Amino acid sequence: MIKGFVVAIDGPAGSGKSTVAKRIAKRLNLLYIDTGAMYRALTLAALNKNISPSDVASVINLAKKIRIKLEDSPKGLKVALNGVDVTSTIRTPQVNTCVSDIAKIKEVREIMVLEQRKLAQGNNVVLEGRDIGTVVFPKAKFKFFLDAGVDERTKRRFKEMQGVSIDEVKTNVKQRDKIDSGRKIAPLKCADDAVYIDTTKMSIDEVVNTILKYVKHG
Ligand code: DC
Repeated sequence: MIKGFVVAIDGPAGSGKSTVAKRIAKRLNLLYIDTGAMYRALTLAALNKNISPSDVASVINLAKKIRIKLEDSPKGLKVALNGVDVTSTIRTPQVNTCVSDIAKIKEVREIMVLEQRKLAQGNNVVLEGRDIGTVVFPKAKFKFFLDAGVDERTKRRFKEMQGVSIDEVKTNVKQRDKIDSGRKIAPLKCADDAVYIDTTKMSIDEVVNTILKYVKHG
């Protein structure tokens, strides 16, 4: 496989991106980069410092200072913020509530995109996020956009979370859809040349196999 081979997987919350991207990475021996985890780590850093997402200058300042590390581990992807393991704390309802407002800040996106390109450089990678096929790697060899109905996506997210009601999860999923798709910079959308996959009625294996067919024949 040529070096610098990029598989881009975009889509909204609960569309199956993470599960699918991890499996694709394993099957094809690609480096897995969860870009959402990076926006989440910055959001956690802001919450820890009592910085509101609306305090844009402070958020940008923080984004310039923090160190986010994504590391492969036997238990899966490990996320470290300034050397501290935050793999599970970046998935709390508080982070879910604030992350889209942090991710819509132009300068934050510029910093993250540069970092994502650096992480991918020289590697064969699969990246998942919202703007991989449109902004981060517009020339990626393979692009996929995973989608699913909001009720199905809510159910999937609800299964992964504790201490929240299904209604709260649905409200958050819809709110994030709205902010992520409506923002001016790098909004969530399917790239013109991406393969669109509606995963609502598909199993994980079916989605993985669909993607693998494209990648193996491409
Ligand atoms: O995939 P996720 O749910 O972990 O992503 C969390 C948030 O981060 C998502 O609601 C929007 C933002 N995000 C983004 O704006 N761009 C990306 N490439 C990845 C995530």
